[in-house]
Amino acid sequence: MKVISTPAAIQRIAQEFRKQGLTIGLVPTMGWFHEGHLSLMRKAKEKTDRVITTLFVNPMQFGPSEDLDNYPHDLERDCKLAEDCGVDILFAPEKSSMYSDGFASAVHVEGLTDTLCGASRPGHFDGVTTVLAKLFNQTLPHIAIFGEKDFQQLAVIRRMVKDLDFPIEILGHPIVREASGLAMSSRNTYLKDNEMEAALSLSASISQAKEFAKEKKSAADIIVAVTKKITKHKECSIDYIEIVNGINLKSCAKIDSKSQILLAVKINNRIRLIDNSQLLEN
Ligand code: PAF
Repeated sequence: MKVISTPAAIQRIAQEFRKQGLTIGLVPTMGWFHEGHLSLMRKAKEKTDRVITTLFVNPMQFGPSEDLDNYPHDLERDCKLAEDCGVDILFAPEKSSMYSDGFASAVHVEGLTDTLCGASRPGHFDGVTTVLAKLFNQTLPHIAIFGEKDFQQLAVIRRMVKDLDFPIEILGHPIVREASGLAMSSRNTYLKDNEMEAALSLSASISQAKEFAKEKKSAADIIVAVTKKITKHKECSIDYIEIVNGINLKSCAKIDSKSQILLAVKINNRIRLIDNSQLLEN
């Protein structure tokens, strides 16, 4: 596996792959790999001839009081894990090569970014779509794969790719969970042992919500029950609990096959965890 650090170099390599008729699979990440990331890399390997994983903790998608400076980072560890999954190129650019002096552009997706994480993290999705537009132009992928844990992010990316005619197939990959049910996330590393029970209330309350959906309870009743189950833990403060249509992310009152529950919860005001699930299995 090669490690590349400049946009010009990765673009040359991607152009060369394309000249040779090879397909490129992209897995964009911010590093500190866990099984969720590795499953995306394996899927890319299955589907394409060359896999590029990007590792860039993108400052543009972090708010001023968020965890940019503490975001877990270990390039050597991540290189080993990516290589073991058959990644061909790890692209890990410096901040200065991604955002040079005078950088003044942004990609904004209207509507889908106004609610949920977009409402509680202003500017976050502009950071995500801007960096992805750059990474897509740098790595020239045929397909790009993203985890469904960031459900709203995936919807926003699909919208951007469609609207801006990026010739890229976007694939979502199911959430990978710990045996305990906790959705895998690089941010889980911040959790202390005594915060684990509170963190597990997200997946536990989603399981309960799915049971209630089967029993035809209304969205409002399900949200009340989930709120109760989570706030039982004094460590938890709710950022949002919403049931939306999984395609347009608009709130839905009646549960149907498209209904998706999405949660964002802060643990001890330090760690913001998200989780989601379709409520009724197809
Ligand atoms: O999901 C992430 O890790 C990031 O938002 C992404 C897509 C790599 C963009 O920085």
